[in-house]
Amino acid sequence: MRLDRFISGNSALSRKDVSSAARKGIITVNGLPARDPGMHMDPEKDTVCVGGERINYSRYVYIMMNKPAGLVSSTEDRERTVIGLLPEWIAGLGVFPCGRLDKDTTGLLVITNDGGAAHGLLSPRHHVPKTYRFSLAQPLSEEQRILLSNGVDIGEKKPTAPSSIVLDEGKMSGEITITEGKFHQIKRMFAAVSNRVTGLERTRFGSLVLDPGLERGEWRYLNENEIASLRGDAGTEN
Ligand code: URA
Repeated sequence: MRLDRFISGNSALSRKDVSSAARKGIITVNGLPARDPGMHMDPEKDTVCVGGERINYSRYVYIMMNKPAGLVSSTEDRERTVIGLLPEWIAGLGVFPCGRLDKDTTGLLVITNDGGAAHGLLSPRHHVPKTYRFSLAQPLSEEQRILLSNGVDIGEKKPTAPSSIVLDEGKMSGEITITEGKFHQIKRMFAAVSNRVTGLERTRFGSLVLDPGLERGEWRYLNENEIASLRGDAGTEN
């Protein structure tokens, strides 16, 4: 693996930061200064330090993407997928979207190759909260808001679990937090009270908040604190 890929994939440093650290001579591989960020190294065998701090190799990759509309949340499809926005070498690590957003839904998507964490995050038993900004075709009445908050029939075995809905002025947009992840759940919930979702963006997933610095279609690695919180949400912190 290239040295800059290894370091940027396992620390908060970007590839640019790695180049500048290499120029300054503060990166070592097996104790020897490494000035070429493109040099090849073996992540399983080589010891890499930046400024004396060892970079630990993680088999897992955790990515936050700001999903644009028009892409499908899967690894392979006849249509363009979110994985296609990543460099080939990351896609080659076996990453997949942790849960699905509809093709027209935008916002926070976690992409990882940590199957255990993904399983925990998506497990109905863990009730991981997900927050979405929505816009509607018609204003939502207080009565409908309460109905939705308490749970509505969307044709599943049970009504939806309680959710929280905060409306903006005008009552045609707002924020909803749900703890389940049924297919098209939010669109079906609003349809159950005779309304229609015209826009949907996920802004939170468990303890993760969509980074306002990410434009649609952009992504970044999660930092150590974010990974730890996410693994906590998934119940796989150890
Ligand atoms: N609910 C939906 O209806 N669509 C999504 O993409 C996510 C939640």
